[in-house]
Formats: sequence, structure tokens, C-alpha cells
Amino acid sequence: MGKLKVGILISGRGSNMAALVEAASDPAFPAEVRCVLSNRPDAKGLEFARERGIPAVLVDHKAHASKAEFEAAVTDALLAHEVDFVCLAGFMRIVSPTFIERWHNRLINIHPSLLPSYKGLHTHERALADGVKLTGCTVHFVRAEMDVGPIVAQAAVPVIAGDTPDSLAARLLKAEHRLYPLALRLIAEGKAKVNGEIVDIASAAVDETASFFSAR
Ligand code: GRF
Repeated sequence: MGKLKVGILISGRGSNMAALVEAASDPAFPAEVRCVLSNRPDAKGLEFARERGIPAVLVDHKAHASKAEFEAAVTDALLAHEVDFVCLAGFMRIVSPTFIERWHNRLINIHPSLLPSYKGLHTHERALADGVKLTGCTVHFVRAEMDVGPIVAQAAVPVIAGDTPDSLAARLLKAEHRLYPLALRLIAEGKAKVNGEIVDIASAAVDETASFFSAR
């Protein structure tokens, strides 16, 4: 079976994209990164992709008259690179139902909370304000409602006394960088499959997805 052909959409730093690219540089990884696409010309992640010899594509949302045109250009660019699966990695544009339908069950995202808790922005500030003792990150299939969709994998990290939003974000980011490649690998291996609005994990892979990352 061939590798899953992945396109990664970013808007900025691209550290999760870099983690996926690193993972995919292992010949045994079941997915290959066909292109990295940004909607912003100044996205730092584009440089990283170029340095790695991965096609780095700019589709500037400001150069398009409407969201529909912008998203059509994104899809065209992905198809030009033979992408059949899309990972959102810090892509700061809300994707439309049309785009989500176009990539139905072939579009995943990473979110910095244990969904369904803390959808939306400022997850760390809100988690700290609530005094939660555990937070985490979630890889999920994308649905029309923001930060909702079948959950592929989650990692939990502790909240530690004295944490600031930045210190918590930094701890969590390390877990994100482990979780996103794991989730993509399970999907590419057929061990994580969407079944309605739930992802079924093959019993052989349960131990992997149930890992608890206490990344201090
Ligand atoms: C990450 O925290 C991710 O969970 C969220 O946006 C951030 C992107 O960071 N969706 P990076 O660009 O991958 O470094």
C-alpha cells in the first residue's frame, strides 16, 4: 500500500508542521508530506519546509476576493501536489463547510486543549483561570462546527503551580509535537477509522493512543 499523501496548512511558526515533517522523514512512516501551504507570506514555517526540500506554497487569502475563491485556490494547490489528506497545523483561517465537505474525513486539526473542553482561542488562559490540574491537546477530524469532530488522539499534561499561559503552552507544545505524528500515523496505517462521529482505534493500537504524556 502506498503512503498517505499529506498537505499541511499553516499560518505562522509551524512547529507542529515541523514535527510532522520530521516524523515523515523516517522511511518507515506511512505518510509523506507533499507540500506545506500557508495563507500568509511571512509564515516562518514556509522557510523550514523550503530548507527540507518540501514544496512551500503561498496562497495569500488577501489576494482573493472571497473566502470561496481563496479556498478553491487552496484545494487546487493541494491537488496539484497530489495531496489526498490535509493536516491543519496552526492554520488561522476558519475553513468553510464547503472546504470541509470537499475534504470530508480527510481533514484533521490539532487543538491545544482536551476537547470538548476549551474550544476556541485562549485555551491556556481559560484553563489557568479555572484552576484545572490537567490540560492537553487533541487531534480531531474537522467538522463545520469549530473545534468539534471525531477525536483521533489526545495527550494530557499537568498544570503546575506558578504556571503562566506561556509556560503551560510550552509544556503542551512538546506533547503536541508527539501527538500529531502519532495520530497521523494511526490514520495512515488504518488503525484509526472514522465511524460516524467517533474514531475507532484498532485494539492493537489502544496502548499507543492511551499514552499519558507528562511532559515536564
Ligand atoms: C498550536 O498550539 C496548535 O495546537 C494550535 O495552533 C498552534 C500552532 O503552533 N492549533 P505551530 O504553528 O504549530 O507552532
